[in-house]
Amino acid sequence: MDPHHLVNGVLVPPFVLQSRVDKLKQMDLYLDDVWVVSYPKSGTTWTQQIVRLIRNNGERMNTKISDDVPYLEATAAVGSMNVDDYCSELNLEDLPRPRAFKSHFPYNCLPCGPPHTTPCKYIYVARNPKDVVVSLYCFLQGFAGLEWDKFWKSHIEGNSPYGDHIAHLLSWWAHKDEENVLFLKYEDMKKDPSRAVSQIASFLGADLSADTISKIVDLTSFKKMKADNTANFSWDKASIKDGEPTFLRKGIVGDWKNILTPEQSAQMDATWEEKQKGTGLILDFE
Ligand code: PPS
Repeated sequence: MDPHHLVNGVLVPPFVLQSRVDKLKQMDLYLDDVWVVSYPKSGTTWTQQIVRLIRNNGERMNTKISDDVPYLEATAAVGSMNVDDYCSELNLEDLPRPRAFKSHFPYNCLPCGPPHTTPCKYIYVARNPKDVVVSLYCFLQGFAGLEWDKFWKSHIEGNSPYGDHIAHLLSWWAHKDEENVLFLKYEDMKKDPSRAVSQIASFLGADLSADTISKIVDLTSFKKMKADNTANFSWDKASIKDGEPTFLRKGIVGDWKNILTPEQSAQMDATWEEKQKGTGLILDFE
């Protein structure tokens, strides 16, 4: 299997298999299903944690986030790149309703069809492309010693897992006003987490007290999540460095300034400007 192969026309990591995605086409979907979708490294786990806490009325669970909100198209138990970690089946029947899923597919390539053809709700999380490329690089470096300049070139050419980031963002942005889509931005969530939790709660039809919202904001802070063994991927051996889980790395806006050269930053600005022009999508880069 290639490190990146096409599934539903999208470049995906090795643990995403067409056979699995084809099986998902047949699954029953419900009105109370919610999908947390994003390009990798955009704040998916943070949003998954908010969703499961909202659904649990702000009470912390002892179950792993990847069990409660499974990464549906992945055949690896923990998103590991290691073929030995592949698990063959996920029994959807075992998941209690209301269910929540994670996916990284662009709008038109989701395993169960595009959102406007399903009864489910979708929360899409967008993050600025400079921080995403840095976060992705740091994450993937743990699996395969990558060289930054090579990785940068390949990423900007659209060859990272799930393809071209900006095209991904725009595929969802074009549908942001659909009733069953909530389009969120990582940078807005950082600025006003309380607003983000309220927005998600109201999108899911959950009537939460101000105290519960504050509790969820606290439990989903970077610091709390990094220390939370049900949310920090401490069970994923590949992301443990010097005994510490590194999946939650820095959780800030603007870390790209520590890695991108001025030329790379200008190149991304030009690419962003060209692709995003006329779409109305604005993202904060710092
Ligand atoms: S994945 O593997 O695609 O599901 O990764 P994803 O969860 O989308 O993104 C990981 C980045 O999100 C940061 N993160 C957070 N930031 C702020 N607050 C909270 N609570 C939080 N949880 C996760 C995580 O640190 C990764 O970003 P970087 O920039 O690498 O730190």
